[in-house]
Amino acid sequence: MAMRRVDLAAIDRITNEDLLSELDPARLPRHVAIIMDGNGRWAAKRRLPRVAGHRAGADAVRRTVETAARLGLECLTLYAFSTENWKRPRYEIRALMDLLVEYLAKELHSLKKNNIQFRMIGRSEELHISVLEQIRKGELATFQNTGLRLNIALNYGGRTEIVDAFRKIARDVAAGRVQPDQIDDELINHNLYTRSLPDPDLLIRTSGEMRISNFLLWQIAYSEIHVTETLWPDFCERDLLAALIDYQKRERRYGRIGHLEDVPA
Ligand code: FPP
Repeated sequence: MAMRRVDLAAIDRITNEDLLSELDPARLPRHVAIIMDGNGRWAAKRRLPRVAGHRAGADAVRRTVETAARLGLECLTLYAFSTENWKRPRYEIRALMDLLVEYLAKELHSLKKNNIQFRMIGRSEELHISVLEQIRKGELATFQNTGLRLNIALNYGGRTEIVDAFRKIARDVAAGRVQPDQIDDELINHNLYTRSLPDPDLLIRTSGEMRISNFLLWQIAYSEIHVTETLWPDFCERDLLAALIDYQKRERRYGRIGHLEDVPA
């Protein structure tokens, strides 16, 4: 495939078709994870309440899921509500939960039609029963789908996930089902919420912040990170394409040296 180099700094002048032609479909990341940030700032810029930013953020979720499925990504994980987000005002928490429920109710038909398998990752215990019911309904209605796996991280914390995995493993050790020496990467992976999924190849964060914010701490050990200034509610197809093109320019080394860095003696 002929590759023209896209200058990401000049992205405003480039069409979506140009960006698409730049992508190598054979080297797409299997798993893309996104920290959706900037809803509040998007709203503040427009003198709107923060909740209006979250509502616009839910539209960006729709667009991004649709694009990811169309491109043929295997797995997309979106950080919707962290274990720390309970510290926000009650009305904002309520609005975020309502938006998720509304998203699932409205999009279920389209998730099914597009062969998308939806799953929640996070601690379900603290969630309101009405939220949990809608989540379980979405999971049940899509579990046989074989296309994009869509994870929504809700009441999710990377450390909490690791704590939960430790507890499960400790119970297995105490019951004699696992020997301490059998604990390895694979066993820990198997006890995470993302069990059986590939680790994210690409982590995207919007709104220019350079933080991990307790997201997928174990799984992002070797992820490529793409930070965009775009605020989440403005995130659209071209932002995702730009991130994927950026990813395809990286040389993934997993601790090895680069392929041009040495000559045999
Ligand atoms: C961060 O923006 C965003 C969140 C905490 C929530 C993300 C939620 C959505 C995109 C809407 C609903 C989700 C789904 C799955 C339908 P922020 O509020 O921290 O923004 P700020 O840093 O600019 O204040």
